[in-house]
Amino acid sequence: MIINYRNDQNKVDVPKEAERLLRKALQAGARVHKLPKETEVGVTLVDNAEIHELNRMYRQVDRPTDVLSFALDEADEPAEVGGPDEHLLGDIVISAEMARKQAEEFGHSLERELAYLAIHSLLHLLGYDHKKAADKKLMRAEEERILEKIHLSQDDLGGGLPLADDAQEDLAHALLDGLDKRDVDLAGDSVAEMFEKARAAMEQAYVPYSKFPVGAAVLTDDGTIYTGCNVENASYGLSLCAERNAIFKAVSEGHRTFRMLLVTGNTTAPLAPCGACCQVMAEFKIPRVLMTNAAGDVQEATYAELLPFGFSEEELAEGRGTAEEKHAGETVG
Ligand code: THU
Repeated sequence: MIINYRNDQNKVDVPKEAERLLRKALQAGARVHKLPKETEVGVTLVDNAEIHELNRMYRQVDRPTDVLSFALDEADEPAEVGGPDEHLLGDIVISAEMARKQAEEFGHSLERELAYLAIHSLLHLLGYDHKKAADKKLMRAEEERILEKIHLSQDDLGGGLPLADDAQEDLAHALLDGLDKRDVDLAGDSVAEMFEKARAAMEQAYVPYSKFPVGAAVLTDDGTIYTGCNVENASYGLSLCAERNAIFKAVSEGHRTFRMLLVTGNTTAPLAPCGACCQVMAEFKIPRVLMTNAAGDVQEATYAELLPFGFSEEELAEGRGTAEEKHAGETVG
């Protein structure tokens, strides 16, 4: 494959090694997909300001993003004399600033992030997308298949690769499609935002012992979102779950009424909260709990469905009276 690489920005120092890995990643993608060697693709590194402008113009999204893919055969323009050049696949535009930021956030190198974004974008040019959870699974598997060829797969690196920014967005929408929208007030933007924030919180999980990161987000009655991740301890029993972390953060900032909680993990099925967290959700009577996973599968429940026989304030009051009387009797007698 012919790669027309250009570095059109000067905000981030992109070493020669990064360009080499990016080319290697794209060539691996071309081989896996058996693209003819005349196939041509453009790769341009830009800064945040420029990708922001492109994102606004072409996707009507008014913010910078990490990568944009422009497939040539999608253009509605009439064919030029001689017809369109079938070997021109399209253009990949990557924000080097965003790639650097994401690499820092996920604790890996700029080289690796650029290679991943280039593969992600190449797959878009080849017609892959991630609007539906099933398509996303397929695209992720394909990304992994290519990354394996250059020894950058999850197995090679011992950790999950972050999703490209646009994939994260589509996923949040796939999640919305899977929701029961009985209560319109609870659906909509907040859910997508909570999902994105919970996934981001999950990146902060301190899980040296279980290696099982969890992220959670709670929405308060005034619309504020608090997030939490699990935080473990060498004395295992002291570990705190993501859900309780998020709820306690909100409570300590003065919130006691919640509209919903969302929890997410890398499980195959939507991740269900543990009993201790259900008991805390019951304390605050959180009316809706959304259990999700990385693929955007979602399952809903109320706190009462999750913990039908939870311990309550009422029981505490009843039990306390009896115990005190019994105790008093014993002392007197
Ligand atoms: N964990 C959560 O944070 N939330 C859940 O709903 C299930 C379990 C955490 C606790 C521990 O850090 C790790 O997952 C493995 O149990």
